[in-house]
Amino acid sequence: MIQLPGLIDPHVHMREPGGEHKEDWDSGTAAALAGGFTLVLAMPNTKPPVTDAASLELALSAARGKARCDYAQFLGAGPDNANAAAALAGRAAGLKMYLDQTYGPLRLDDMTLWMQHFERWPAEMPIVAHAESRSMAAVLLLAQLFDRPVHIAHVSLREEILLIRKAKERGLKVTCEVAPHHLLPPSPYFAEMGRGQGEGQNQIPPPVSSPIFSENGGGLGRGRGGRLEVRPRLNTPEDRQALWEALDVIDCFATDHAPHTLAEKDGPNPPPGFPGLETTLPLLLSAVHAGRLTLDDIILRCHTNPRRIFNLPEQPDTWIEIDADAEWTIRAANSFTRCGWTPYEGMTVRGRVERVVLRGKEAYRDGKVTAEPGTGRNVKAF
Ligand code: DOR
Ligand code: ZN
Repeated sequence: MIQLPGLIDPHVHMREPGGEHKEDWDSGTAAALAGGFTLVLAMPNTKPPVTDAASLELALSAARGKARCDYAQFLGAGPDNANAAAALAGRAAGLKMYLDQTYGPLRLDDMTLWMQHFERWPAEMPIVAHAESRSMAAVLLLAQLFDRPVHIAHVSLREEILLIRKAKERGLKVTCEVAPHHLLPPSPYFAEMGRGQGEGQNQIPPPVSSPIFSENGGGLGRGRGGRLEVRPRLNTPEDRQALWEALDVIDCFATDHAPHTLAEKDGPNPPPGFPGLETTLPLLLSAVHAGRLTLDDIILRCHTNPRRIFNLPEQPDTWIEIDADAEWTIRAANSFTRCGWTPYEGMTVRGRVERVVLRGKEAYRDGKVTAEPGTGRNVKAF
């Protein structure tokens, strides 16, 4: 047994309010604990989106009653809420700006609106940007012009990580995160299921040993369509290689847990996103097993750095216990997320969460979540 600090996920979509058929604060935080996360930061692209005091209260009251692990809630940057959001900053995990195609209505194209938020959001608190490629370059320019911290969400491309390295070398206050599916792409069996129609589509694939570590990184290329829809899109083997080579530039691993139901993913207009809370740590531990990461790499990026970047308090008497060698096969049937599927279905991994202790109380043990709904705390409640 190895003990690690409780992991912090700075990027989850809890879906409540408005998308409870995909996930809610109860099922989502149960999935977090099962995945070794004791603190999650929730994204604001709910229905309604979290952009003002009333919508923040809607999300937080749901969390208050249902969350099983600790949490904080992001505010979303909208076209007319720069003042209102800044006034609520102390109660939020941070400000999220969607500057590229995403799920939900929170997208800002007009750079004068970006500037309003950069001007008014408190200087010591990070702005998290969904900004890909050239929009990311534009956000880095704003970070420099306004001399303030920005955190780039789910970096996926070679050009992005190379630019962030340069920006860091120049002293810009930029941090970044990478999602597991941009380092370790999903099972090829799963990809095939997503493309097919009808027959055999929902068959459980046989176990596969980790194609994620093969030379060509699984060979999925830039996946598009069906169940593989995700933003940013799945990247190429060259992009993944560049991310692995720039591990020193990556501040955090974030799941970008973005559950949608299989019916939605297999429908005519599949929404982007994968669940990730329960598979991320096992995938990272498999990378440790394969000699591509160390446990210290994981602790730094899943605990120490997110805590520092988002000014999160220490969770006293909180830790997780893992069996770093346990070999098991990922099956959505055994998971807690409401969406009921995983892009890593059938993949054999090394490393399992055995027990989670949150603020002195056992919260998860051997496949069972023991923390009750409502026991999670808002770490930004003052
Ligand atoms: O794949 C994604 N899913 N990317 C996003 O930016 C949003 C997310 C979601 O909320 O489903
Ligand atoms: Zn996201």
